[in-house]
Amino acid sequence: MKALILVGGYGTRLRPLTLSQPKPLVEFCNKPMMLHQVEALVQAGVTQIILAVSYRAEMLEKEMSTHAERLGIEITLSLEEEPLGTAGPLALARKHLKEDNEPFFVLNSDVMCSFPFAEMAKFHKAHGKEGTIMVTRVEEPSKYGVVVYDQNSGKISKFVEKPQVFVGNRINAGIYMFNPSILDRIELRPTSIEKEIFPVMASESCLFAMDLAGFWMDVGQPKDFLTGMCMYLQHLKEKCSEKLYQGSGVIGNVLVDPSARIGENCRIGPNVVIGPGVHIENGVCLTRCVLLKNSTVKSHSWISSSIIGWKSVVGQWVRMEGVSVLGEDVIVKDEVYVNGGPARKRKRFSEFEEIKVQSC
Ligand code: GDD
Ligand code: MG
Repeated sequence: MKALILVGGYGTRLRPLTLSQPKPLVEFCNKPMMLHQVEALVQAGVTQIILAVSYRAEMLEKEMSTHAERLGIEITLSLEEEPLGTAGPLALARKHLKEDNEPFFVLNSDVMCSFPFAEMAKFHKAHGKEGTIMVTRVEEPSKYGVVVYDQNSGKISKFVEKPQVFVGNRINAGIYMFNPSILDRIELRPTSIEKEIFPVMASESCLFAMDLAGFWMDVGQPKDFLTGMCMYLQHLKEKCSEKLYQGSGVIGNVLVDPSARIGENCRIGPNVVIGPGVHIENGVCLTRCVLLKNSTVKSHSWISSSIIGWKSVVGQWVRMEGVSVLGEDVIVKDEVYVNGGPARKRKRFSEFEEIKVQSC
């Protein structure tokens, strides 16, 4: 089986992290976002993955080629000269996707769930129509694609991308399975699958919805990244709790890379992810936050609802909260209070206080 992952967006909503890394390579719970998907696809029997790229292709190619070797799969890059949106990349990869005339998966690169691909393939085969969309229920559907479908048969009657008025609360989870015949609908030009292709397919009754059980989150924005992290840790607790960290001062679900160093008298958790090479000094308090590779938190600092970027240093007695996001290599001086907003590299800003903080 084959899969195509849409990895071409600029990831602007996840800045400043995406100023250093393309969104699919930003680590979510200590693993590049896209690798969660790739590993689950491989488990379901996928042997060739096409990465639809329009931006920072070299970084993606370098990182993913090592994983391809480890996983024993073929990863092919399909490079766009201009961004082709969410449908155009399928037309560009037509030759790969048509090759063996079998259904294939298509994924947005920023969605996290338990990825039930084997069940999806079964469901798709059973209804026998052109496409299957995985759907999930959310409280606030306006920032997603809303799917209206028959609860018994799963047949989709309507697809509305980012509706302005309430249409329903079941939304497109960004995971699809299609027969190769969908390629006859898509031209090689920038095209939105959600706005231009799905509404037509729904009106022709050839799209079906599969309800996704368990957690789901689009982690392409800092607030949702943190919420998704909490959900994922809870999922780990239920499915393989041995992966979670136990130790003195740890509360609730916490994930710690074995190479991280944690000082004395710290309070860590609930919902904390600590990456490789991270150094946490004595008396630090962390809740609901992510510390990316090689970052440092100096003694007696308090961090909540925040993301600390690679190699960043948070000084002593700092207080950070309110979805604050530090990019790569940022320094927060001692005793500073940070409440919300992104901060970029120290190369541009000599002191954290000089940064104009915007709301995320
Ligand atoms: N190759 C390529 N080229 N990929 C692209 C391009 C492009 O021009 N533009 C966007 N993508 C990729 C993004 O990297 C992402 O993986 C995916 O397409 C979806 O783009 P987002 O920017 O994340 O869209 P969204 O989150 O606003 O909405 C989409 O996802 C929701 C679920 O999270 C839609 O599919 C919604 O219908 C859906 O509900
Ligand atoms: Mg998204």
